[in-house]
Amino acid sequence: MGKIRFPKDFMFGVATSAAQLEGAAREDGRGLSIWDAFSTIPGNIGDGSTPEIACDMYHRYEEDLDLARRMNLDTFRFSFSWSRILPEGKGKVNQKGIDYYKRLIDAMWKRDIVPNASIYHWDLPYELERQGGWLNREIVDWYGEYATLLFREFGDSVPFWATINEPIATYVGYAQGGFAPGYKLEKYGRQANHHILLAHGEGVSRFRQENLKDSMVGIVIDIWQHFPLRPDNQADCEKACMENEKTFHSYLNPIFKGCYRSELLSYMEAGNCMPIIMSGDMEKIHQPIDFFGLNCYNRVLDCSEQGVMPERKQNGGNFMENGTEYYPRAVYEAIEMLRKEYEVDIPIYITENGTYNCNEAVTADNRIHDTQRTEYIRGFLYWISKAIQEGADIRGYYVWSLLDNWEWCAGHNMRYGLVHVDFDTQKRIPKDSAKWYAAVAGTKEMDW
Ligand code: NOJ
Repeated sequence: MGKIRFPKDFMFGVATSAAQLEGAAREDGRGLSIWDAFSTIPGNIGDGSTPEIACDMYHRYEEDLDLARRMNLDTFRFSFSWSRILPEGKGKVNQKGIDYYKRLIDAMWKRDIVPNASIYHWDLPYELERQGGWLNREIVDWYGEYATLLFREFGDSVPFWATINEPIATYVGYAQGGFAPGYKLEKYGRQANHHILLAHGEGVSRFRQENLKDSMVGIVIDIWQHFPLRPDNQADCEKACMENEKTFHSYLNPIFKGCYRSELLSYMEAGNCMPIIMSGDMEKIHQPIDFFGLNCYNRVLDCSEQGVMPERKQNGGNFMENGTEYYPRAVYEAIEMLRKEYEVDIPIYITENGTYNCNEAVTADNRIHDTQRTEYIRGFLYWISKAIQEGADIRGYYVWSLLDNWEWCAGHNMRYGLVHVDFDTQKRIPKDSAKWYAAVAGTKEMDW
């Protein structure tokens, strides 16, 4: 067994989002978001819960940042709730919302923790959805106004700005019904996607206008690379390739190359779901950014036939208690793809990585032995360090998440935290993985 050492200035952190942790959904003038509405429809959320209280971080952020400090974390990812800042999505500003984020950001700096903010993490103001949401092209301006407001209020105290977290969530919400607002039309999904990419471009332009010298702007995209379950099966290969085209390439190519790829264009043409693309759109999307945020959880093995799951398990796979494949090399492969196919040479941050439901039971002596979470993170960190050694410019790593939180459609059924939360009492208990991660973050090295 040896030691793996990370660069001295490599940042260790955790990632969170407003809708999933803050709660206080109806307090201090906050407007509702599409997830507040979507979650009240029976059947939409696995356990019937809503984000109304979540982890109550709105009231408990000092305590939660103390936990982060005790875990030796360098940085903390959070998102602004658009409807807390602008209850109707545009127009009147909610000063109490601004004040909350000022307090939150100050509380991070007081603990020597560097804030990393997302402008949009899925919680569109409900009032904007009533006006067409991501299907209405005017959203690019609504988003732009909101972004400018944030840059002016918080630009000096936040060094990292992500325009959008995982734009694919919008596709899922408009094409597949799986997320808020719950539409099920491919055409809607593709149009919403195009608009969210434009919003990203608008955000970058507005960031540049503010001339924020000590901050960087980027975007956070999740990469789940699809591979054929049976590499010698033509249909499996085609399926995997097309899934990659329809998911992460549909964002990366416009951002890094300024166009949609021909495979996607043909698919949209054939499926009658081509978005309206206006002149100048692709240039707007294709602007230089300062960093790339990579969310990476796993790879996906695709099979063109149904009912071959057992075979999947025998295909060299290593499966976790929660049924997902343990494949930490996924992060190395995603970084490799970014560098080869997109020639990404800006700093990369692994803005999310984590797993759920790893023996989450609280023992009589108040411990949580989530051994597989530790192993999972350790595995990903190993492959990240390997990519760094091979020349990749990876500057930081964030575990999803600090706390068990409100996991969208799974509600509280999926626990992703390094810290356990009892949702009846809001009591927090650091799990074994939190103790292990604290040691890694504190020393910037780990055993391997
Ligand atoms: C992606 C998202 O950014 C986050 O909101 C979500 O909870 C995690 N992944 C886990 O599913």
